[in-house]
Amino acid sequence: MSGQIPQRFIDDLLARVDVVEVVGERVKLKKAGRNHSGLCPFHQEKSPSFTVSADKQFYHCFGCGAHGNALRFLMEYDKLRFPEAVEQLAGRLGMEVPREGADDPRAQARERKRKEGVNLLELSASFYRERLKMPEGEAARRYLADRGLSPEVQQTFGIGCAPAGWEALKRHLSERGIAEAVQIEYGLLIQHEESGRTYDRFRDRVMFPIRDVRGRTIAFGGRVLGDAKPKYLNSPETPVFHKGCELYGLFEARQANPRLERVVIVEGYMDVVALAQFGIRNAVATLGTSTSEEHLSRLFRMVSEVVFCFDGDRAGRQAATRALETVLPQMIDGRQARFMFLPEGEDPDTLVRREGPEAFEDRITCASPLSEFLFDHAAEGRDLATIEARERFASQVLAAIRQLPEGVLKSLLLGELSRRTGVDQSRFEALVTPREAPENEQRGPEAESVEEPVSRPEPGHGRGRQSLSLMGRVLQLLVHEPRLVERLPVEADWYPEADPEARLCREVERLLRAGRYRSAQVLLAHFHGTPEGERLATLARRELLIPAGARAAELDGLVEHFRRHRLRPSRQEEVDALLSKQQRGERLSQEDRQRLMVLLAELKG
Ligand code: GTP
Ligand code: MN
Repeated sequence: MSGQIPQRFIDDLLARVDVVEVVGERVKLKKAGRNHSGLCPFHQEKSPSFTVSADKQFYHCFGCGAHGNALRFLMEYDKLRFPEAVEQLAGRLGMEVPREGADDPRAQARERKRKEGVNLLELSASFYRERLKMPEGEAARRYLADRGLSPEVQQTFGIGCAPAGWEALKRHLSERGIAEAVQIEYGLLIQHEESGRTYDRFRDRVMFPIRDVRGRTIAFGGRVLGDAKPKYLNSPETPVFHKGCELYGLFEARQANPRLERVVIVEGYMDVVALAQFGIRNAVATLGTSTSEEHLSRLFRMVSEVVFCFDGDRAGRQAATRALETVLPQMIDGRQARFMFLPEGEDPDTLVRREGPEAFEDRITCASPLSEFLFDHAAEGRDLATIEARERFASQVLAAIRQLPEGVLKSLLLGELSRRTGVDQSRFEALVTPREAPENEQRGPEAESVEEPVSRPEPGHGRGRQSLSLMGRVLQLLVHEPRLVERLPVEADWYPEADPEARLCREVERLLRAGRYRSAQVLLAHFHGTPEGERLATLARRELLIPAGARAAELDGLVEHFRRHRLRPSRQEEVDALLSKQQRGERLSQEDRQRLMVLLAELKG
């Protein structure tokens, strides 16, 4: 994507589009006086509390509070990102979306390149589809039929075939005026290093177009018709294709069901297609890589539940462990991840054909929730009757819990861990409290034995993304959604003292409340060139993983957390208070002195 979309274009767009029309295409609306009303698409209801106003160009739900303009509606309903929603609205009106810096020749060249690439890839996709129908597609047609793929599902996924020769696609594209250099850049043509001769990358293969969320072909996967190696060949990285973030089948899944709530992540192209043929149309596959953080954050923007599907063998178990580690930091409240394991020697393609779709659906339904998988995994190969094994079990579970964002899941897992080990929950809580909370507070001598073997993960280890401090999260929410400032208590007594982030947060609160800083840009400009500005800019760049509807509650929860901690001073603070009382010459009561002794002993231990 090139540059920012200019604000004046967005204003112009909103002035031309009619929110009643946009909503009306997706929700049944009835005219009621000056407004339109209908059943709210954002929560379950039996009588309509959702209204759309043509005058104000706004929708509002009196039931759940959802509201906004046409863009907001598309973002929420179609689960689009802002630029995607703008593109969609502009598309209806036949308007081209300009980008800031579009006068810049470099940006122009980039944009031209993107279009050129997409065009070239679409041309190739239809070329492959056409070939499949021709006599030269005979072998591929037979192969697909042998694999049991129906013509309908082949069409849904745009499956085609690459002819056996060396230059079929090259000739086709070159005749249409596409330079060889461009064909090479988009991975369709390979240039021999020494001779400089060019030839088709994909030859004599069944071709699966890989599409982006909007259905544009961005790459291909090609399978040999027999047992030759390599079995699959993918497009290389190109200006429009980044293997580590794309998911095969996501576009098709959303086409089948725009209100998708759950996806199943399987391993292969064939699995996605076979499941779809049998009516399980919410499967997606990574492109031969393990599931990445990008994959998951993309999916969780669209659906609230992800089911990982693995082979039952050792490799499958290992892949599941990796998936668990990747998904933990993303498990904010409202999201679900589950794990399913197939019998050894089967993949979804073979299984759905053997057992039928109902049985496969049952397997999905019975997939283990993350919590169950986590505990089973940690218990594996350990005899929990022994103290040592329980200790290692607890350490492993705690290491995982530390990766979780604050929330209900974290509390539930801590409760469950405590139940399973018979160790008091508060001890575990102390071990997983983020750093800025008074961490040593509850570290009694008995907790040591559990703490010792827990290997603390390096900050941000392996994922290049450090977890935010709690105050950092408050700041991040404010930067991304300045209007949330209204949720902060008017009384500033919840801020922890002596925390530099809290000081910055107070300042941000003050500016936002003053009213002239209603957008992140203005706020960032205010702090520009200072360390605080750096910090805020980093937070602004960092993606906010919390769904729009849950942000206010998240902020309330954080404030509540700080408030509780202020009311319950850490042991060190308590000691300091008692000592300074003594130093001021005030008499400590019997009770104070006993308390002080206990506290000092604990802090030493
Ligand atoms: P079929 O054998 O056609 O049923 O395919 P499959 O999807 O069951 O294959 P498998 O489980 O072996 O592989 C799963 C996924 O890994 C494939 O869909 C590919 O994305 C990827 N993959 C498998 N083999 C290769 C290979 O040789 N090269 C590359 N680049 N990717 C591969
Ligand atoms: Mn297979």
